Amino acid sequence: MIDARARAELRGAIVTTLLTVALTGCSKKEETTGETQPSRITTASNVHPEIWPQVSLPALDDTAIEPRLNELLSSLSVEEKVGQIIQADVGSVTAEDVRRYRLGSVLNGGNSAPGGDDLAPARVWLAAADAFYEASMDTSDGKHAIPIMWGVDAVHGHNNIIGATLFPHNVGLGATRNAELMRRIGAITATELRVTGQEWTFAPTIAVAQDVRWGRAYESYSENPTLVREYAHSIVLGLQGDPGKPDFLRGNHVIATAKHFLADGGTFEGRDQGDARITEEQLRDLHAPGYVAAISAGVQVVMASFSSWQGKKITGHHGLLTDVLKNRMGFDGFVVGDWNAHGQVEGCSNVSCPAAINAGLDMFMAPDSWKELYDNTLAQVKSGEIPMARLDDAVRRILRVKLRAGLFEAGKPSSRAPGGKFDLLGSAEHRAVARQAVRESLVLLKNDNKVLPLKPSMKVLVAGDGADNLPKQNGGWTLTWQGTGIENKHFPKAESIFAGIRSAVKAGGGTATLSVDGKYTRKPDVAIVVFGEDPYAEFQGDIATLEYKPGNESDLELLKKFRADQIPVVAVFLSGRPLWVNPELNAADAFVAAWLPGSEGGGIADVLFTKRDGSVNHDFKGKLPFAWPRTPLMFNSEGAPETPLFDNGFGLTYQDTVDLPVLSEEVPAAPGQASTHHYFAAGRPSNGWQLAVGAGDAARTALPGAVGSAQGDVLQISAIDRAAQEDARLAKWSGAGPATLALQGEAPIDLQREANGQLSVTFEYRIDAPPSAKVMLGIECGPGCRGDLPIEAQLKQAPAGEWRQFKMPLHCFQNKGADLRNVTAPFLLSTAGKLELGIANVRLESGLNDAPRCE
Ligand code: BGC
Ligand code: BGC
Repeated sequence: MIDARARAELRGAIVTTLLTVALTGCSKKEETTGETQPSRITTASNVHPEIWPQVSLPALDDTAIEPRLNELLSSLSVEEKVGQIIQADVGSVTAEDVRRYRLGSVLNGGNSAPGGDDLAPARVWLAAADAFYEASMDTSDGKHAIPIMWGVDAVHGHNNIIGATLFPHNVGLGATRNAELMRRIGAITATELRVTGQEWTFAPTIAVAQDVRWGRAYESYSENPTLVREYAHSIVLGLQGDPGKPDFLRGNHVIATAKHFLADGGTFEGRDQGDARITEEQLRDLHAPGYVAAISAGVQVVMASFSSWQGKKITGHHGLLTDVLKNRMGFDGFVVGDWNAHGQVEGCSNVSCPAAINAGLDMFMAPDSWKELYDNTLAQVKSGEIPMARLDDAVRRILRVKLRAGLFEAGKPSSRAPGGKFDLLGSAEHRAVARQAVRESLVLLKNDNKVLPLKPSMKVLVAGDGADNLPKQNGGWTLTWQGTGIENKHFPKAESIFAGIRSAVKAGGGTATLSVDGKYTRKPDVAIVVFGEDPYAEFQGDIATLEYKPGNESDLELLKKFRADQIPVVAVFLSGRPLWVNPELNAADAFVAAWLPGSEGGGIADVLFTKRDGSVNHDFKGKLPFAWPRTPLMFNSEGAPETPLFDNGFGLTYQDTVDLPVLSEEVPAAPGQASTHHYFAAGRPSNGWQLAVGAGDAARTALPGAVGSAQGDVLQISAIDRAAQEDARLAKWSGAGPATLALQGEAPIDLQREANGQLSVTFEYRIDAPPSAKVMLGIECGPGCRGDLPIEAQLKQAPAGEWRQFKMPLHCFQNKGADLRNVTAPFLLSTAGKLELGIANVRLESGLNDAPRCE
């Protein structure tokens, strides 16, 4: 037996040998990414920094900066220093707070915006940026003027702003295989950001998603680290400009953030904020190359990931943040945390986390928790729990970035060119680049009998709910966090896919008709069906299998209907990831993976239609950035038992003449895990859940088919119709005694991260008879563990017979005693009184704006 220490040393030695071999075989890579040969370093942490690449930083002239840093650091009070390392959300902070606390930064989260209005016009953003800046520069109280930085998720263009140019999400950009284009996209995004006064973007996401069940897979360029590395380099240069040039980080450039360090895309089962159960070598080889490239391109900020590695949260990981990223790779910018992610570090809460700073985090993203966090952090510095040297290092890094970006001399955001040039938002020139990106991102998966390209002189029917649907073609992180709750009218400068087809066909002498449900009076020459995933982002996008819309065949039926009418069908599939669509592939003559193209739907018609003379206008260029699954259970290309249906890199062109054989439509049984975000949908309990009823203290009985009654008929459940046949339930409490309706599961689920993500228990309800007594909505967490909230007041206010939506934030249940790490029943409804209530679609959903508050 060898002991643990000897084993660790042995492992280190083996790894070093392997790496030396790997790196010497790879000297070309070093030139392009700035990697140099490893040398041995010793460390007390559980990483082996010596096996990680060293990065050569770009040459920056910091000679004037470093003395200023020393001077500033020696003059700032400890209160001012602590202020610098805290970032608050514009929804929870005012300019006055910034003046008083000297906060280093503000951000707007996906669901927050100036004045609380997601749809606020560009000029309101600029005015808010000026106000925060002026507050930060105010010296009337004797404090030092330190310009604030405003960070925003400009992840596919300046996507929080109405009228901005919206590029395809990263998955589509990965398909273009055009790194040079990334640079132009970065430059345009930076320019549009500067127009509204923000100087910092939380982009690029350089995740290398390994399991596309992850709801953020579309933020990943590819499953392939080499492609991600190339793109990371190029987009950082586009956003920040060339290091060493006078307009680096200023003018039409912004500060970029490489996120989320490290292995956000490598978590077990693709769980958002989950755990990467991989070796240190896999961590390095799969997930780190993008960071090496971003750092060598001069990226100034790295965002620590919500996720963990081998069970330890990265936000508190000294080995990865300090020993590897800062010491080994030499990163000299700063590390920002993710949205209250520090609260998930062992021993921490949202309002206190010395462990994260001590591990190497430099700035807390503390959206709503900033004030208490400020007080606690200050106390921890004063007590020595956070060493002053560590605080000084964090502040030095933040100020270094501010100085490099010239913020001290820049004046207020509206005075910095191109601040206030609103015409640049969605300008024709910018949109043309986005349209090119759309064209190049399209991947042709099937083209039987060479149905494509189409002649623009044809009679074209355009169907499907994605055809004229700008929210859907943009996906998540568009005006709102999940990309939900918005309509076509919120995209004044965008073009839908249908609108693009209509103008191509009109110019070519044909006709294009929009018919979402596919009905027509005159038989068309061809039908184009645009369909796919509905918008989602973090958490909500996580799925259990890759089957496209399980249990909902409406898109398939649409395709089949045209087939039956002998009309050739072209499928245009909108999605954030490859999904199992064998039935849809079988039912279509041609099939195009169009990803989430953004504002320029016209790019699709550019490729589908020929020129007037019948010659190809634009050929397909896109190649799959992820392998396409052969079965719904094939989550990634590595280690899968079968070969993918289409390999990473696959994509037909108009030169190809292959027909796709008929594919298997068999759906294998899904692994038994419970659906974490849906509990009751389409008239049945979701995967892993059952509907149960119980009277008094008696054990609850599960109802097969989700209809039946509790003992003594004190609670009866029957099927009713809401949007579709029997998709809802009517629950009738007789008033003869207490009774409970539950959605319960066998294995507990963990909803901690969902609570942190501000999700709410959400359902549709209809009052048929109002409550006569107290009604409690609860969450159960094993025997004897519950959190319950009274809801009768709200139910009493609802008009009878009308469907409405109910929302209750998850954290409210936590306040009432629910242990969200161990949820056995996410939905319990109890009363001893009389109540008749229709219930449908029980789930978790984002958006606290319209949810009630709880203490
Ligand atoms: C996301 C980050 C994002 C941040 C600010 C987090 O929940 O994980 O990618 O930058 O919120 O909106
Ligand atoms: C915010 C997002 C953030 C998320 C974190 C949302 O309410 O708008 O920006 O990423 O919460 O979980």
